[in-house]
Amino acid sequence: MAKSLSCFFLILFTLMHFAWGCFKYTCKTSEQVFLPETCIYNDNLTDTYYSRKCSDSKYQCVPDQTSSYQFNYSCSLPTPQHYSNNPGEFCKTSDDCSYALPCKDGICIGTAKGGECQNSGTCEPGTYCKDNICVPQIKIGESGCTSDYDCVNNAACNETSYNDPTKNTCYLYKSFKVHDPVAQCYNGKSMLCPYSICWEDFHNRVFYCTDLFSTVKGQGAECNPDEEDDSCESNPDSFFNPPYITGGNCQCSLNSQGTAHCSALPGDPASLQYNKIWTKWIESKDIFKCNTFSRTDSNCVKTYWSTKDYNAFVYYQTQLTMLNSIIGAEDCVLETMAENWLEIKNAYDGHGNNDDDSDGNSDSGAFALEISILIAVAIY
Ligand SMILES: *[C@@H]1O[C@H](CO)[C@@H](O)[C@H](O)[C@H]1NC(C)=O
Ligand SMILES: *[C@@H]1O[C@H](CO)[C@@H](O)[C@H](O)[C@H]1NC(C)=O
Ligand SMILES: *[C@@H]1O[C@H](CO)[C@@H](O)[C@H](O)[C@H]1NC(C)=O
Repeated sequence: MAKSLSCFFLILFTLMHFAWGCFKYTCKTSEQVFLPETCIYNDNLTDTYYSRKCSDSKYQCVPDQTSSYQFNYSCSLPTPQHYSNNPGEFCKTSDDCSYALPCKDGICIGTAKGGECQNSGTCEPGTYCKDNICVPQIKIGESGCTSDYDCVNNAACNETSYNDPTKNTCYLYKSFKVHDPVAQCYNGKSMLCPYSICWEDFHNRVFYCTDLFSTVKGQGAECNPDEEDDSCESNPDSFFNPPYITGGNCQCSLNSQGTAHCSALPGDPASLQYNKIWTKWIESKDIFKCNTFSRTDSNCVKTYWSTKDYNAFVYYQTQLTMLNSIIGAEDCVLETMAENWLEIKNAYDGHGNNDDDSDGNSDSGAFALEISILIAVAIY
């Protein structure tokens, strides 16, 4: 329902492991001879990917179109992409706006209050689609919501009753306390909870906000992708019955040793860093300038925040997503398989925390547009 990031050239890889471990990723050796177009050569005898940068930065390194078990990657020109931004987000022409909405003064324009709608994605910021009409979002402390998107942009719905929305109230994000009951908990998340995490107590079948938990073995701990192991486990929250223990995902990394590592849990440093800038966004006035679906979307952040703050937002967000994929990865591999991560990192470093100026016109912001969240190579 909410729009996706598909407008970027979003290369969604999943670093899959094969039957007996992870692939290895390293630089092309001087003895190896590559075809001109090859940027990654897969040696199927050693299960190693050898990488070299494309000759020109206008190329992208993409998997060869083949269904074979293991494959090379080639340098190719990316196809031009358009955004599909929601009302309130930037555009050059109407092609950059979702639902072919008009682009006026560089912003996608939605349907105003009182206009017809099919879903909230076409409604102007400050409104949502109710019974096919864009109506003002529900304020904090008021009832009638059936989803978080019905509430003002800094609030979520405590949806106590599915049948009777008058029992459901909009509350400020993060306004509940640790171990407060919460009506909904999707995939362990509720924006109402102090750390946005929750869990069900299986004894009394009630969802509660959980305390902050982290990876016992440390952020990005090495793990075994092929077997059940406890490397990625969190510390327990004993408030729950039985005590709540969760774990990060174990994923193969892009390094030359072929090791796998755990994704970060909410209490791990990468999550805390992202949470800090994310909280700054949800507490800012700018969040109200976004369509209800794209309230936390990086394109809306880009539209209203300075280049410096936006770069930091995207940097911490991407770092969190890619953390375990990039552990120990060599630059020659990142240059082909995680090019966008390098661009985001350079934009962030370049706009450093040391320049506090009015800045903004460097083109490093443009890099960060291409949030390709690295990952697949599903090789079976
Ligand atoms: C993979 O790349 C290498 C080096 O360029 C080349 O020799 C080989 O033929 C390629 N294999 C396939 C299946 O395209
Ligand atoms: C390994 O690659 C070669 C050619 O590059 C191919 O002939 C062979 O079948 C491959 N082996 C496997 C196990 O896929
Ligand atoms: C939120 O919903 C839960 C479950 O219905 C309820 O127990 C709790 O009291 C609600 N919280 C508030 C602040 O209304």
